[in-house]
Amino acid sequence: MEVLVWKNEGLMILDQTKLPHQVSHILCRHYREVAEAIRKLRVRGAPAIGIAAAFGYALAAFNFSGKEEQSMDDYLCRAAAELRATRPTAVNLGWALDRMGMKYQKIKGLPLNQIRETLLAEAQQIFDEERHRDERISSFGAKLIPDGARILTYCNTGALATAGWGTALGIILMANRQGKNVHVYVSETRPVLQGARLTAWELHQAGVPYTLITDNMAGYLFSRQQIDLVIVGADRIVANGDFANKIGTYNLAVLAAYHKRPLYVAAPTSTFDKNLATGQEIPVEMRAPEEVRSIGGTLLTLADSPVLNPSFDVTPHEFVSAFITERGILRPPYNDLVEKIS
Ligand code: MRU
Repeated sequence: MEVLVWKNEGLMILDQTKLPHQVSHILCRHYREVAEAIRKLRVRGAPAIGIAAAFGYALAAFNFSGKEEQSMDDYLCRAAAELRATRPTAVNLGWALDRMGMKYQKIKGLPLNQIRETLLAEAQQIFDEERHRDERISSFGAKLIPDGARILTYCNTGALATAGWGTALGIILMANRQGKNVHVYVSETRPVLQGARLTAWELHQAGVPYTLITDNMAGYLFSRQQIDLVIVGADRIVANGDFANKIGTYNLAVLAAYHKRPLYVAAPTSTFDKNLATGQEIPVEMRAPEEVRSIGGTLLTLADSPVLNPSFDVTPHEFVSAFITERGILRPPYNDLVEKIS
């Protein structure tokens, strides 16, 4: 599946807003189109938006002709700021842009063509490294999935979210490939329905058995002992192990703890933010009220119903049974988490 691909001096993005009914791509030839695609969730998922932003930065170098009034420094600095401002919670976005900016600082004396090619190679390198991380996460994580497991997952953490093999969903796919008999409960993930639209579609493609539930059905399954473990991704994991993930994750963490079922969090080290001490410092993206008022363009409520739409919540580290990263499986206590992922 080509989620992100560099083609003809542009970034092709699989438009996730059209899934599962239409598989189509958009071609971004300007960094502002990449920023717009991230903002509108055409590309989404923490690792995938980091990769898209890296290519967006490289694209800005192609967009810069040398004839502008601005210097290249100013042009790229502005492009990075615009890309960074698209979505505040997933730390991979800023991480990838910082890395691109550092690369540029090292090579900025070179001729324009060489700067472009070097930045493009750096974006491709970030892409390749993230894919490699996914594979390792999946191999480590599959060890935690017993044969016969009934797994609850949330949001979308597959190839669509990472442009690679996936994180939490990658682990489930790996366990399935290893011949384990797994069944996945996919929570629909209101308001944007990443579970229903994307995860269900990916599991269907992969031939993994699943059942779709609405988000308020998880308690029903736990109360009947029908969930063995919960596995989710993350958008930002801070120094003490608190993590931000799609709104609704915290509800599942509380349910899992009450019912004594493990909650596993799968993410690459690019999702860790060593600069924040606790989850209270994580900026939570607030999105448009229309996402809550409507589904698929159909208004569900009054056109002006007051709405709250935080896109993420923060789950305290006490609820996390283990983090699964490309470095291995990290279990509590998490007081040396930063050293372990450095
Ligand atoms: O708003 P989104 O769709 O970009 O949300 C991000 C996510 O996909 C999830 O929170 C996910 O669990 C972490 S990213 C693999």
